[in-house]
Amino acid sequence: MLIVSGSSCRYLAVNVSRLVNIPLIPSECRVFPDGEIYVRIDGDVSGKPVAVFQSFALSPNDYLVEFILLADLVRDLGASKVIAVIPYFAYARQDDRFKPGEALSIKTIASLFKYLNIDSIITVDMHLHRVSNPSELFKIPVYNLSAMGLLIDYVMQVFKPKSPIVIGPDEEARQWAEIAARRVNIDYDVLEKTRYDSHRVVVKPRRLNVNGRDAIVVDDIISTGGTMAEAVKALRSCGARRVIAACTHPILTDQALPKILEAGAEAVIGTDTVPSSVSYVSVKTVIAEFLSKYIVTMR
Ligand code: R5P
Repeated sequence: MLIVSGSSCRYLAVNVSRLVNIPLIPSECRVFPDGEIYVRIDGDVSGKPVAVFQSFALSPNDYLVEFILLADLVRDLGASKVIAVIPYFAYARQDDRFKPGEALSIKTIASLFKYLNIDSIITVDMHLHRVSNPSELFKIPVYNLSAMGLLIDYVMQVFKPKSPIVIGPDEEARQWAEIAARRVNIDYDVLEKTRYDSHRVVVKPRRLNVNGRDAIVVDDIISTGGTMAEAVKALRSCGARRVIAACTHPILTDQALPKILEAGAEAVIGTDTVPSSVSYVSVKTVIAEFLSKYIVTMR
């Protein structure tokens, strides 16, 4: 196997290539003055499976086009298989038509992957709440790895929380809270909003009391930080002693970081699926472990 990386996650791709001892083929990706994207690889991929790395974050549309060009290029140059490694998969939140007339974006992207003749997809904590089986949607195997175990290990080691509890900011985040809590065998719950009248809305954990406890709020994505900031405020007003915010994909638009810290979080922790100032945890090990096993199944 060989690795080729787009410009969104070169550092992660180098680290994975070193961990699993898979050669990294140098690639050049740049933007012409008129905005068109140019890609080139410098190596022979003929007859070999190629893992193409690209995270669709921060400039998702440019990175998507870069990925399309790279994936089609390696296939064109004779790669025997093309494995898409997409640490952050954008457009996955639009997995339903929430209002009449909306594009079902993830379905369109899935058709594109099929058209590109991609053999399989490896991704991390993909936001697919209404699509239970992404392999059915993409019509190719989709391996959805999780960074929640790495995140909770990091938080437990660095912050040494007392009487810790994992909290999902909403029902959709229950899946992440459950993975993290089970890993270290602690309690978990999700927040729920109850409206008592037109003025009074209370957000609090559904089952458990957080008073005097250290809460770790986990979510797949922090984008504007609104969801996380609300969760942090709610937990502080319910008496949580410390609140630490953790997510897999720290997209961090709209002053998300100060918003969450001002809401009362002690720290925000993310992974390198999206390179950011809070990417303290690397998903290199989960991707590398998976690729090592994947290579064995290809023999
Ligand atoms: C939504 O369902 C996701 O799991 C995240 O909660 C959401 O994307 C966070 O967005 P924001 O940071 O803009 O509130």
